Amino acid sequence: MSTPTARQVSSTRVKELTTHEEGRFRKARPRSQQLWNEAREVMPRGVPSSFQDAAPQPVFVERGKGSRVWDVDGNEYVDFHNGFGVMVVGHAHPKIVEAVSHRIAQGSHFAQPVAEDVQVARELSRRFGLPQWRFTNSGTESTLDAVRIARAFTGRERLIKMEASYHGHHDALMVSVEPPADLMGPPDEPASVPQSEGIPAAVVELTTVIPFNDLKAAERAFTRHPGEVAAVIVEPAMMNVGIVLPDQGYLAGLRDIAHNNGALLIFDEVKTGATIAAGGATERFGVTPDLIALAKAIGGGLPCGAVGGRANVMAVIEDKRVAQMGTFNGNPLTMAASKVTLLEILNASAYAHFDALAETLQGGLDRVIADHELPFHVITLAARGGVTYRAQRVRNYRDYLEIDKAFAYLSWLYQCNRGVIMAPGAEENWTLSVQHSVDDVQRYVDNFAEMARDLRA
Ligand SMILES: Cc1ncc(COP(=O)(O)O)c(C=O)c1O
Repeated sequence: MSTPTARQVSSTRVKELTTHEEGRFRKARPRSQQLWNEAREVMPRGVPSSFQDAAPQPVFVERGKGSRVWDVDGNEYVDFHNGFGVMVVGHAHPKIVEAVSHRIAQGSHFAQPVAEDVQVARELSRRFGLPQWRFTNSGTESTLDAVRIARAFTGRERLIKMEASYHGHHDALMVSVEPPADLMGPPDEPASVPQSEGIPAAVVELTTVIPFNDLKAAERAFTRHPGEVAAVIVEPAMMNVGIVLPDQGYLAGLRDIAHNNGALLIFDEVKTGATIAAGGATERFGVTPDLIALAKAIGGGLPCGAVGGRANVMAVIEDKRVAQMGTFNGNPLTMAASKVTLLEILNASAYAHFDALAETLQGGLDRVIADHELPFHVITLAARGGVTYRAQRVRNYRDYLEIDKAFAYLSWLYQCNRGVIMAPGAEENWTLSVQHSVDDVQRYVDNFAEMARDLRA
């Protein structure tokens, strides 16, 4: 995974290159700069979501087609960002354009069920091995509903979550997402730290935080709170601190500990679902949880989400004990796009294509890292992957904190200045689409090689 001869890189060199690349970045994006200035007059930080507020300035996008996007300054990029991992179908896929155009001409919203609901729910059930599904409009809503269902089913209120997992922006789970070092507590028993002001302390208190990949810490958390825990929620492969893979046997162990203590296991597959395999992490790692939260890629580019579960667990909705609702749930436009995405575009050859692209990236980047003796390594999982800017594997948040984030920022600038746009932030990874080609991903490798040479120059 990592080169055995990895050598330190001079931090002065990283700073020097960063300053140079920031200058080049700004020079090529005057219109983005102007729009951002205007936006700040009417939107805090000049963006519609704080995730879009990226250094050195947001890139305002004009359009996308296939594997490419174009910004308002006319710069063209291979899209490795893909809308935070949504656009696995690629931009303006002809089948999505056709399905959505057809649907909108027939009326786009009734708040009544449509036939496509059944087809999409059946397909999710087939892919993830859970029989009952409901729709939402985002990942946040999906994990919010999963938590409510688990609390109702068990009659308990406490949740256990992993330090540094992001599950959306509702109060119960916006705890210890990226806690500051002075507040985060000991590594084996982390503190519960609200990620934002405005979250009631009483809600934070109900969320117990444990380190990922540590079954003993999970057991201790249950021992500290006997009979209180409704569910353990986990991203089966953490994807908001780079990519952190589960240890062999970890997910099965977590499921057993939860079940032995009368709690449910929830997989947050908002990022992994339908991207790292047809049946997401559930298929890839061979562990089926009690509840799954989905969103992002399953909607083919429209706002979407879904929560699925075991029949007896989802019965809390059937029995009217849990109110699972939303004006736009199962919206016909979303369902039209989702149906085409899941039943036509993301077929077996799409996953084979992702694996082939992943192989090109893994092989190419591994070679660059070895040739330049860089202290980095690469993880690929079908449509998803990323470079970890440290030689050793990251197993949890405390490992992640040891990464020098300056490399991730420099790499983002190098790619952006050379025609590849990545999601901003050291924690982000790439998402490919069915419309990406080997040449597209080779461009990422070539840009990375240029950065490697410059770092060692
Ligand atoms: C793992 C995970 N869960 C939940 C969410 C929240 O999804 P949304 O932004 O659609 O509310 C995200 C968003 O990035 C996520 O990465």
